[in-house]
Amino acid sequence: MRFFIDTAKVEDIRKANDMGVICGVTTNPSLIAKEGRKFEEVIAEITSIVDGPISGEVKATTVDAEGMINEGRAIASIHPNMVVKIPMTVEGLKACKVLSSEKTAVNMTLIFSANQALLAARAGAAYVSPFLGRLDDINQRGIDLISEIVKIFEKGNLNTQIIAASIRNPIHVTDCALAGADIATVPYSVIETMVKHPLTDAGIAKFQADYRAAFGE
Ligand code: G3P
Repeated sequence: MRFFIDTAKVEDIRKANDMGVICGVTTNPSLIAKEGRKFEEVIAEITSIVDGPISGEVKATTVDAEGMINEGRAIASIHPNMVVKIPMTVEGLKACKVLSSEKTAVNMTLIFSANQALLAARAGAAYVSPFLGRLDDINQRGIDLISEIVKIFEKGNLNTQIIAASIRNPIHVTDCALAGADIATVPYSVIETMVKHPLTDAGIAKFQADYRAAFGE
């Protein structure tokens, strides 16, 4: 399983990229709004940091296929690594079909059922983003959705990649890797938590103490 970072905060993207653990970025309208900067400006900066797929979503207020197609084309023209993120609706599927036929990579987002994922794949989506955490929030097992999509895509020989999204904690990450997700898109805070282990810290402290005792520095 590969990692993308799920944020529009460029400092966090830079830190995760410097660690060598991420190979792509996902953003959404809420994450862009949180930064209080222009969409095109943030996206352009992100493309200069990470050399991999960068998902930029069409405007949250654009609900018709034609509008999504026009915005999608504009997003795709920002950089060759751009992936156009489109919400899972009938109009979204229509836009996905057109953009995918033009060789623009589409990430169908707000996926909450295996059937939605299957439809998105059939409409030509390069990626689907099932939202794990938001299902857990309403007392439905998000990880079961990831497993179902993995199985269905394997059985159907579908090339659409699964980006496990709405990841809230390190257990989600492990579960998604075990379930066979292609990618997990993870907030920086979760990456930080994944790095840490109390026994690693204790081990470093012990090595330092032993080293200082023997060599005095
Ligand atoms: O980018 C989509 C997704 O990862 C959002 O996560 O935590 O807002 O449900 P969350």
